[in-house]
Amino acid sequence: MKNLSSRTKKWLVIGLPILIIFGVFLVGQYKRTSTTHYCGTTCHIMKPPYETSFHSVHRETNGVGCKDCHIPHDNILEQIVYKGYSGARDYYKNTFDPPDALHTKEWSRNILQRNCLRCHSSVVARINTSDGKQCFECHRGEPHDTPTQPFSSQPVYTAIR
Ligand code: HEC
Ligand code: HEC
Ligand code: HEC
Repeated sequence: MKNLSSRTKKWLVIGLPILIIFGVFLVGQYKRTSTTHYCGTTCHIMKPPYETSFHSVHRETNGVGCKDCHIPHDNILEQIVYKGYSGARDYYKNTFDPPDALHTKEWSRNILQRNCLRCHSSVVARINTSDGKQCFECHRGEPHDTPTQPFSSQPVYTAIR
């Protein structure tokens, strides 16, 4: 520290705390905007998926929130980029161009599929999951179906071979 010029020291004394406070603020905001309550209630277009998820086994009280399915968990960089992109897109759509129905984009479906596998790998360990069929093509009811149905009566539309 001795050989640092007084100017550098001044920057360190003032700049470092600001940087740390800013960092803590950013992490706090990242966490706050990842909660199911925030995702489900901030934009009115999220109301239907939010409300239907209460009745699913995939609900927050069972330890599964929106972010567990809709945000990547195997790549932190992709997670940050996707969170920014999809958050901004949802805000834009919600404010300027509310759609009649929301549709998943390919990137979103790809993330969903990886998350199904992340939690259910043991259940599907003996099934070929690399043929391009996505879990939610069969499990249509999970978790946004209305009205909610027991799993046995959900529309599983492709027979298992
Ligand atoms: C169990 C995993 C899971 C959870 C938990 C979950 N979703 Fe979904 N979500 C899906 C699947 C699967 C689809 C439909 C994908 C398809 O068929 O294209 C979907 C579709 C959507 C869509 C429409 C398309 C899109 O991506 O914009 C929205 C909006 C959505 N979910 C919001 C939410 C919100 C809000 C929550 C939390 C309350 C939530 N989801 C929790 C799996 C999940
Ligand atoms: C964060 C972990 C997690 C993710 C991600 C997840 N699930 Fe689940 N899933 C669970 C839990 C927990 C249960 C309840 C299991 C239990 O009670 O044994 C469950 C139950 C299920 C069931 C049984 C449903 C029922 O009514 O009993 C199916 C089918 C299922 N999940 C499919 C999916 C699909 C498809 C996806 C991807 C869209 C997905 N899961 C993503 C954790 C997850
Ligand atoms: C071709 C259609 C199809 C595909 C694709 C599919 N499943 Fe299933 N899955 C079924 C059927 C049918 C059952 C049995 C239903 C029953 O027992 O009532 C089942 C059962 C399950 C169960 C157990 C449900 C319970 O009640 O305990 C889980 C969990 C599950 N699947 C997860 C997945 C995951 C994760 C994927 C993606 C890798 C996937 N499935 C892909 C049709 C499919």
